[in-house]
Amino acid sequence: MAKKQKTAFVCTECGTEYPRWGGQCTSCGEWNVIKEIRLGAAASKQSLKTAGYAGAHSEVKFLSDVDLAQAERISTGFVEFDRVLGGGIVRGSVVLIGGAPGAGKSTILLQVIASVAQKGFSVLYVSGEESLQQIAERANRLNLDARSIKMLTETSVQSICDVVDSEKPVLLIIDSIQVMHTADSDTAPGSVSQVRESASYLTQYAKRNNISIFMVGHVTKDQSLAGPMTLSHIVDAQVILSSTDDARFRVLRSDKNRFGSVGELGFFSMGSSGLKEVKNPSAMFLSRADEPSSGSVVTVIWEGTRPLLVEIQALVTESQYGNPRRLAVGLDQNRLAMLLAVLTRHAGIFTANDEIYANVVGGIKVTETASDLAIIIGVVSSLKNKVIPHDVVFFGEIGLNGEIRPVANGFARLNEAAKHGFKKAVIPKANAPKEPVEGLTISAASTVSEALDAFGYF
Ligand code: TYD
Ligand code: MG
Repeated sequence: MAKKQKTAFVCTECGTEYPRWGGQCTSCGEWNVIKEIRLGAAASKQSLKTAGYAGAHSEVKFLSDVDLAQAERISTGFVEFDRVLGGGIVRGSVVLIGGAPGAGKSTILLQVIASVAQKGFSVLYVSGEESLQQIAERANRLNLDARSIKMLTETSVQSICDVVDSEKPVLLIIDSIQVMHTADSDTAPGSVSQVRESASYLTQYAKRNNISIFMVGHVTKDQSLAGPMTLSHIVDAQVILSSTDDARFRVLRSDKNRFGSVGELGFFSMGSSGLKEVKNPSAMFLSRADEPSSGSVVTVIWEGTRPLLVEIQALVTESQYGNPRRLAVGLDQNRLAMLLAVLTRHAGIFTANDEIYANVVGGIKVTETASDLAIIIGVVSSLKNKVIPHDVVFFGEIGLNGEIRPVANGFARLNEAAKHGFKKAVIPKANAPKEPVEGLTISAASTVSEALDAFGYF
């Protein structure tokens, strides 16, 4: 009897799998996007033979018997890039690099591969999008030593693996995973199933042969990985390269990392010779307005494993309409509403009839509650039209009872502020340091009204 071909129903937009066909994808809401795909022979055979993507035969072991050899890492040559990866490229790991077209993914990967090649490692850059000539021109413009970089233009993963078998690179770049196709799937190149099968084939190959792979994946405007969104569980790490409001700068962020922390940021600037590391990212996010204006306030947030100074701006204007607007850009809208309620209830500052806008300078997203105190101070500063001196910094989480709660890494935040020339810090009482921070006067407060008094300015 002929064996039944394995099939699956997959949404071509977001990759959600269904047991049967349906008219609408319940995950992304799109209509007519669920397609039946035939699963490749290799995929089903593999899953019978092996367990997971590591390619090893399944076998029960005590955890204590597992070899604890430290994952070997290779530096990318960029401190900022290494940091986002958790300390360099792990041998045999697969990293997905997402970003909008033009973000600089191909540029940074060419720079990384050149730097790794310079250390004497064998590398291979596979491009399915650009011609060899285009890449050679870019390498020339970036002043890279082109002699040690091996290139290949190919889109079939089986052919790529054949070349890799003979070239034995330590680092392989796949630019991009969306144009790759595998003989295991007979759907059109670029479709979700092709992208997924290609990525899973390459990942299993990387694990078996201890080769590190960087796969490029294009993302859409809303920063979701189109198609490759479904690759998150296959790859070891997923990092996103995006532009900031200032088009010169690029931020690399880890969204998932099996070998490091998530939310780690690396900062770069794009210039005529490619991407350069930004050694002092705090300076990047502090706007350098000659005339400080009311509503503008600086806080210290914690990004990944380090502090970052950011400027928050608030604008309070009398509303012309019955229903005043509250708009937060780069901040949580609900958090802003909550802070305004606390301000009314616990500090007697009434804003219900005002329009309130809050914004984080530089296009960075602040998700940390440590910015609460700074947001409140910004609102009061704009409301009273009083400029906050440019050398004061604020941080602290605010609770519904108007209390100021401590935040993690208080001392490191204070040091970052002192390093950038801040003279005064208004912080939670529980974060008051035992030893002084050089150059910084510290006012510690346990409630919002205490903080307003301690600042003594309004
Ligand atoms: P690219 O790496 O091709 O982006 P991606 O692969 O993410 O689509 O980068 C393209 C952009 O970078 C393009 O807008 C030009 C700019 N760029 C520079 O500004 N300086 C440079 O040295 C290079 C190589 C590119
Ligand atoms: Mg590219």
